[in-house]
Amino acid sequence: MTKKIVVFTGAGVSADSGIPTYRSSDGLWANYKIEDVCTPEALARDRATVINFYNMRRREMAGKLPNAGHKAIAELEQYFDVEVVTQNIDNLHEAAGSTKIIHLHGELTKLREDSGERYITDIGLRDQRLDETAPNGELLRPHIVFFGEAVPMFEHAAMVVNSADILIVVGTSLAVYPAASLVQYVRDSSVPIYIVDPAELNIRSRNPITHIRERAAVGMPQLAEILKRKLGD
Ligand code: APR
Repeated sequence: MTKKIVVFTGAGVSADSGIPTYRSSDGLWANYKIEDVCTPEALARDRATVINFYNMRRREMAGKLPNAGHKAIAELEQYFDVEVVTQNIDNLHEAAGSTKIIHLHGELTKLREDSGERYITDIGLRDQRLDETAPNGELLRPHIVFFGEAVPMFEHAAMVVNSADILIVVGTSLAVYPAASLVQYVRDSSVPIYIVDPAELNIRSRNPITHIRERAAVGMPQLAEILKRKLGD
């Protein structure tokens, strides 16, 4: 029976690809106020600032490539049933070859209608025009979950975590809810949790925890080797 591995990732897994994290000293939220660029109120109050913030992040994505961390996660699919639950809005897990990915907080290359999830379009890395509309004339916005908004994929992600035989947590400060609570959804206290992060994490869990205190590009390949060696167990 193929073991199921769920890999829960945050901005740290893309740091080695040159994409800034959020809460490091030079991170995104050190340079921008969340309330100016990542809330529905900001979009209503100052649409241009919000649209331009995400246009700049799309421009930043140009030329960025998956790193050895993303690739080690993708390669695990040769040995395990792997599902990625990411908080990241970049598409580097896809680019590395992972095939089952849930984007909890949306996707940077996509836009959707202001009023709902019906119409979603992928604009790649080009800028969104301020007056860009859906076919029904509805203004478009980044297909990204802003602070204070519902996380539509959360229930599904919780079920996925509950199905895991092994949970891997890579590059997330576990600072944002409900995403951070996903680690509590493992089916019982026997499910091993592996963490790959250079920093200490305040993870509360009764489960066996192995912390590989490395950058994702170093620690994830190491972890993949450990898990492959355990295959015979
Ligand atoms: N490799 C692995 N982990 C790293 C690396 C690296 N090279 N560099 C930093 N980290 C770790 C940090 O130690 C930290 O634990 O990555 C984590 C980054 O934390 P945050 O910047 O808070 O990013 P994240 O946890 O993804 O934020 C969650 O907050 O702003 C919202 O929606 C946004 O999805 C984001 C959510």
